[in-house]
Amino acid sequence: MEYAQGAMNDEVKATRRAAELRAVLNRAAHQYYTLDAPDIPDAEYDRLFQELQALEAAHPGLCTPDSPTQRVGGVVLDGLKPVRHALPMLSIRTETDTTAAGARKFDEQVRNFLAGEQRRTELKASDPRHRAAPLPEEALAVLGGAPIAYVAEPKFDGLAINLRYEHGVLMQAATRGDGETGEDVTHNIRAIGQIPLRLAGDAPPVLEVRGEVYMRRDDFEALNERQRAKTAAGAKNEKTFINPRNTAAGAVRQLDPVTARERRLSFFAYGLGEVTPAAQGSPRWSSHWDVLQALKSWGFPVSALARRALGAPELIAFHEDVAGQRDQLPFDIDGVVYKVDSLVLQRELGFATRQPRWAVAHKYPAQEQLTTVQAIDVQVGRTGKLTPVAKLAPVFVGGVTVTNATLHNELEARRKDVRVGDTVIVRRAGDVIPEVVGVLPERRPPGAEPFAMPAHCPVCGSDAVREEGEADHRCTGGLFCPAQRKQALLHFASRRAMDIEGLGDKLVEQLVDGGIVRALPDVYRLGFVALAALDRMAEKSARNLVDALQKSKQTTLARFLYALGIRHVGETTAKDLARHFGTLDGVMAAGVDPLLQVPDVGPVVAESIHTFFAQPHNREVVEQLRAVGIHWPEGPPAPAALLPLAGKTFVLTGTLPTLGRDEAKDLLEAAGAKVSGSVSRKTHYVVAGEEAGSKLDKARELGVPVIDEAQLRALLAGAA
Ligand code: IVH
Repeated sequence: MEYAQGAMNDEVKATRRAAELRAVLNRAAHQYYTLDAPDIPDAEYDRLFQELQALEAAHPGLCTPDSPTQRVGGVVLDGLKPVRHALPMLSIRTETDTTAAGARKFDEQVRNFLAGEQRRTELKASDPRHRAAPLPEEALAVLGGAPIAYVAEPKFDGLAINLRYEHGVLMQAATRGDGETGEDVTHNIRAIGQIPLRLAGDAPPVLEVRGEVYMRRDDFEALNERQRAKTAAGAKNEKTFINPRNTAAGAVRQLDPVTARERRLSFFAYGLGEVTPAAQGSPRWSSHWDVLQALKSWGFPVSALARRALGAPELIAFHEDVAGQRDQLPFDIDGVVYKVDSLVLQRELGFATRQPRWAVAHKYPAQEQLTTVQAIDVQVGRTGKLTPVAKLAPVFVGGVTVTNATLHNELEARRKDVRVGDTVIVRRAGDVIPEVVGVLPERRPPGAEPFAMPAHCPVCGSDAVREEGEADHRCTGGLFCPAQRKQALLHFASRRAMDIEGLGDKLVEQLVDGGIVRALPDVYRLGFVALAALDRMAEKSARNLVDALQKSKQTTLARFLYALGIRHVGETTAKDLARHFGTLDGVMAAGVDPLLQVPDVGPVVAESIHTFFAQPHNREVVEQLRAVGIHWPEGPPAPAALLPLAGKTFVLTGTLPTLGRDEAKDLLEAAGAKVSGSVSRKTHYVVAGEEAGSKLDKARELGVPVIDEAQLRALLAGAA
């Protein structure tokens, strides 16, 4: 008796504690996944989660379908169960005219249909056998010329899901399937943190919520990054995924919910399915907008981009506005959706062959297209890096015609297994360089060979090698290789190096291929006569180039060091070297240890600099460049900490009256200051000129001192 009493108490306590834990954990999940505002630390969440798991294990009767522990099941099922939808899941008509006309067309179609309804009603009214229902007020207003109220939303690129809640608890989740029957994917949907297992607030006894399961781009990139790491560590069959949509769809339709959890899926709600008791008589919601607000109040993520739009002009504005943001959004969209806002009007408009007349999807130009690989070329970069590049049959994707896509290196080319003749998916989103994301193996022509990096440089025939631990192959030809010579020369002449105006691609090609320039110093031996004799070289251009060459001879040590194209020595390192050593001889004589004293120079960089100047032919090039007259002011070494503006961070914004952006940057850096691109609390000064924008606002907001050019000059003078 005593014992049974104790057990009973125990059971009651456990039930209470479990309910408490579920409430806290579900709330925390909502804060974390939906509001992006976690309110308890992860470790605390884990602790409570484990406590609940232990309770449920000890008292199996306690486990409820809305328990957060049910978000991961870990059990492998044998197949997905078919689910018949209570209300069919329809698709929306697609408007493929991606211009403003697409929106206008939809608005007109809605109006025309309502006008037709009115005629039909009138006809029926004149026929005594019918009792005609008059058109609703909203429809009459539209026919009287009032603009139609719409809701415009992004068209998420994922997969549609129906979530069935009974008495506020998620009971079943199903894919769209053929619209009538979908598949039961409840186990995977429970793994999505953004989907409430229990609804917040008051909800109808039966409520079906519809929306899109998708994968954020950063989660997608991170997943592929993990896959690549696994391959690099020797794992087989860890393929990378093609795009977020397919990856999300694949995860939802897995039998094992662990996959869904690992892929980190997200969700947006955009509509309702069955709702009982049916809202008859007095409707619960009178507009789609109200429905979206209700979805939010129950705890669902609803896109912040959704907005009300009046008439075609505001639909067009929305289409354009969202197009402008498309590449910066954290998820993929393939268009926008317009929905007639009034539910009364929606009912009046009804359906035409399984598609609602009150909604349309207005597309954007596709960011992925199919094309074929005509060849795989190997290009040689400045430092000899060999890059395989797929030459594609021209294809219009993401708004431009694409003919080339980098395959990065042999490992990447092999992982994707791109072969000549293959049909591939090319993706170009925003300003990102076009990429081959995948191959359609079923369309591969017979006999297509896997790609292999050539053993020799395709340009100079020197050995191509891949160093231990590196992904890239390199041509060992050095400046003997014309391709490397061209790239080296272009780099030498570039704006932030020696700044030789007019020494561009075409000219470099001619000079190197014609054997006129074999080494960097040769460019300074080019006279007017030799230049004017070149193909397509006008006299004036030749004259300008001679002047530009002359002008470039007066430079800075930092620019000169950068121009030499020493591996791992970018602009910043070149400046640090110049500042630290003060003279070229100082840099050239430095061993690895003294080089390591330079701020931000590590062993790899130090080794590279030391090796460069240890080569007799490099020293020879440097001597010849000095001999042709390249010079710069040299000074005593200035350890960074002793410089007057050392440790100070500046941000430049707007146009200064006399100083160019680069000039101001050079002056500041010479005084030891850092120049940063964005304003933060750590910024010491913002130098603002004409038309300074958001950086100036930010400075004011953070209380960072703002100075003009005159004050900057005063600081520099005081510093000098
Ligand atoms: S509403 C009857 N709204 O597009 C209207 N659908 O063909 C039901 N989709 O299967 C859909 N974003 O997967 C709606 N904001 C949005 C949407 C959206 C994406 C998808 C959904 C649906 C397909 C329509």
